[in-house]
Amino acid sequence: MVHAPSKLLNSLSPRDFLPLIVQDRSLHMIALNRYRFSEQHSCLELTHLIETLNGQPAELVQDLSHHVAEEARHAALFTDLLQELGEEINLPPGVSYINEFERLLDQGPEDFPRHSGDRVIAALVAMNITEKRVCQIFSAHVAALKAAPATAENQKILATLLQIFPEEASHVGWSNRWLAKLVKQDPAKRETVKTFQQKYALMEQAAYDAGMDILAGAEFRRLGNLIKITKTLPLWQRPVYFLKRLPQTLIAPDLQRTRIFIAQRALMKNPQRFIQQLVPMFLSGVPQLPQAIAGETLL
Ligand SMILES: [Fe+2]
Ligand SMILES: [Fe+2]
Repeated sequence: MVHAPSKLLNSLSPRDFLPLIVQDRSLHMIALNRYRFSEQHSCLELTHLIETLNGQPAELVQDLSHHVAEEARHAALFTDLLQELGEEINLPPGVSYINEFERLLDQGPEDFPRHSGDRVIAALVAMNITEKRVCQIFSAHVAALKAAPATAENQKILATLLQIFPEEASHVGWSNRWLAKLVKQDPAKRETVKTFQQKYALMEQAAYDAGMDILAGAEFRRLGNLIKITKTLPLWQRPVYFLKRLPQTLIAPDLQRTRIFIAQRALMKNPQRFIQQLVPMFLSGVPQLPQAIAGETLL
């Protein structure tokens, strides 16, 4: 049941950027506030899933109720940490990985017209992939903190991450076990699981990349990723899926907000560096435009 996410355009690994984030206090605090937001938001998603299942299978509902309790505790731990550090617990700025992933995921009955019973498998696969990403980010964050100066603040952050990390690893484990169990009960579901794994791995990677890529032309790279995802769907589903997501991919209001936020912050901090380094870096995304969508067709 293990599926390695395929690499899309412009991927940056958490091992690359977390050492830079822990060196910049304001970015570090934004990262922690994003973790808090994602933990809190996952409670909402898990509760929706519990309500959709409506008590069946009871064992899965029980496991999910324990899962939601753990995510709520993680949100509380990050909230306490941020409060203790004197930081805001508002909506974090920038492209939200979790909102972007939800936008790309199957939503609504028109996306499951033939197999509404596959919703549980879809939810478990999506959960499994995002929990793996959380583990990848948290382990990179722990490594970056261990390599950074051992200030009182860094030690507090490290202690919180080390407290949460084993439970995130157990979330990967239990979703894997449930998928294996469903396939054992009905071997015909093996293909369904595989299809969702391939499709959702691409979507998750695209959502993750959207949070990283703020260079000029990011909209076109997002469009390139949307085409790749659309091509994993059956032919008859492609037009609806693609057209529903096209306007936000191209207009990308969350991307514009991130750019403005980063530009304002960089300009206030060091105007000379902004002109000399950041403007050329921003524009360096432009030559990649043709690659992003070259040769891609929907059908
Ligand atoms: Fe969590
Ligand atoms: Fe989790």
